[in-house]
Amino acid sequence: MSSPNPIRSESFEIGLLADYPEAVRVIAAGYEVEWDFWYGSGGRASARSDLLERSQTDRLPLGLIARRASEPIGAVALAANAITPRPELSPCLIGLWVAPAHRRKGIGTALLRTAIVKAAELDFDIVYSATTTEPAFFMRAGWKKIDKLIFKGDAFGVFSARCGQA
Ligand SMILES: CC(C)(COP(=O)(O)OP(=O)(O)OC[C@H]1O[C@@H](n2cnc3c(N)ncnc32)[C@H](O)[C@@H]1OP(=O)(O)O)[C@@H](O)C(=O)NCCC(=O)NCCS
Repeated sequence: MSSPNPIRSESFEIGLLADYPEAVRVIAAGYEVEWDFWYGSGGRASARSDLLERSQTDRLPLGLIARRASEPIGAVALAANAITPRPELSPCLIGLWVAPAHRRKGIGTALLRTAIVKAAELDFDIVYSATTTEPAFFMRAGWKKIDKLIFKGDAFGVFSARCGQA
């Protein structure tokens, strides 16, 4: 999954965000709409800064993007200690997002699978994720629910996947 050998399908390919710096602007715009409370004008964080931080090739945080005909249409990242109440569940998958017009075509699942492959390349055995909104999506992709937690009033399902299962 390194830059000369991206995972491809008929209609999209997945590669390292670091290889496509021009994608940061488009993905950041998508994040700002999707997670307005966090990345929007009243939010506390900068999507652009987070994505630039994830533009690395061989260490965490590490971002991946999906592209269709050179257009960035999705993203995900692996990060250390990202589940605030359970920092030991690391690395954690964050920022999983597919542009609304491209959903339900398998791109999110492909991003998950590629993140697991990348985690294995970085010598991790297990990847974690916490979600408020998409438990069914993780279950269908073969992830195991290992915990639930309440953080700042929101209920999260905590999921894990073994790196060998991708
Ligand atoms: C969650 C998200 C990343 C999923 O991306 P996606 O590209 O739509 O994911 P997939 O297409 O792989 O799978 C989504 C569903 O479509 C179904 N699907 C996949 N390919 C399909 C196809 N060709 N036709 C119809 N349905 C299809 C999958 O079975 C899956 O069903 P499920 O909802 O019952 O699990 C996307 O909806 C998103 O960006 N949501 C907003 C941000 C978010 O919630 N991120 C997750 C935070 S943890």
